[in-house]
Amino acid sequence: MIENKKRILVLTSGGDSSGMNAYIKAIAKLCKKNDIEIVGSMYGFAGLIKNDFVELDYNQMRQVQNMGGSILKSSRCKEFQEEEGFKKALENLNKAKFDCVIVVGGNGSLRGAYDLMNAGINVIGIPATIDNDLSYTDLSLGYDTACQNAVCDIVKIKQSMSAFDRGFIAEVMGRHCSDIALKTAIISNADMCITEKVEFEDILKKVNQKTEKGVKSPLIIVQENLFNIEELSKYLEEQTQREYRSVKLGYIQRGGEPSNVDKMYAIELAVLTIETLLKNDYGVALGKRNGSMIAEKLSNVLKQKMTQSELKYIFEHYCFD
Ligand code: F6P
Repeated sequence: MIENKKRILVLTSGGDSSGMNAYIKAIAKLCKKNDIEIVGSMYGFAGLIKNDFVELDYNQMRQVQNMGGSILKSSRCKEFQEEEGFKKALENLNKAKFDCVIVVGGNGSLRGAYDLMNAGINVIGIPATIDNDLSYTDLSLGYDTACQNAVCDIVKIKQSMSAFDRGFIAEVMGRHCSDIALKTAIISNADMCITEKVEFEDILKKVNQKTEKGVKSPLIIVQENLFNIEELSKYLEEQTQREYRSVKLGYIQRGGEPSNVDKMYAIELAVLTIETLLKNDYGVALGKRNGSMIAEKLSNVLKQKMTQSELKYIFEHYCFD
């Protein structure tokens, strides 16, 4: 019996991360090679509700692997979490008869994939978030690039701060996960990395310890959502007679060309996606643990991670004296 040609749908959802396009290109290439038809849903889950599907043609994807953002666009789709929107999405999916829906995104997106799975849709999840906060995988697409972007900007700003012996506070993204803050702090040799709410007085004590040891231009990395870094900057200026400047790095961390680590990971994820598809092994999210590629049951992947313990260890041993 001749098996029908497979037809899959891919969507990117939630905060975009550099590497999403590299994954789309890699999966499109492998689909072409394996005679699988590939379709994209525009704006993530919103495309399922609006029936906004586009044919993906590998030959039209020149250089997209080098671009940040997502050629399929993204959204945080509230409607999909509501009964009516979810029902509409299911209706459209059932009509379109895809063999599998590939959901590329972070925590919220993989939860969406899990809900689709429970409604009878074949799904595969791909970890893509700069926050690196998915507990089942050591690495998410976009995290390495985000850290690289943050370090690159901090290095530049630090040079200017050093010229004036100014202190410098940089706020990085990560939502509730400290991975970006810690990795960025380690690589940029920060004097402090603040990953939880602390009193300004305690920060001052640590800054004073550093300046007493000869640090002229203290660098403090702060994880987002903790406090107002401008207020901290003013407070330290008043208390130390040293000038301080603060910078929120923001979306600069999310965009730009993916790092080689993310480009390579996108390809590894695409290779495993095809293997998984060909085995009809659905209801899983792919990732990497201890250097090996893994496919983990979606029911086990929804736990959020706060921080990678090795990073905390390295920061404490390398940056504190
Ligand atoms: O989840 C990725 C992320 O960039 C977080 O680090 C940040 O808190 C959030 O998204 C910003 O969300 P938005 O794109 O909705 O402003």
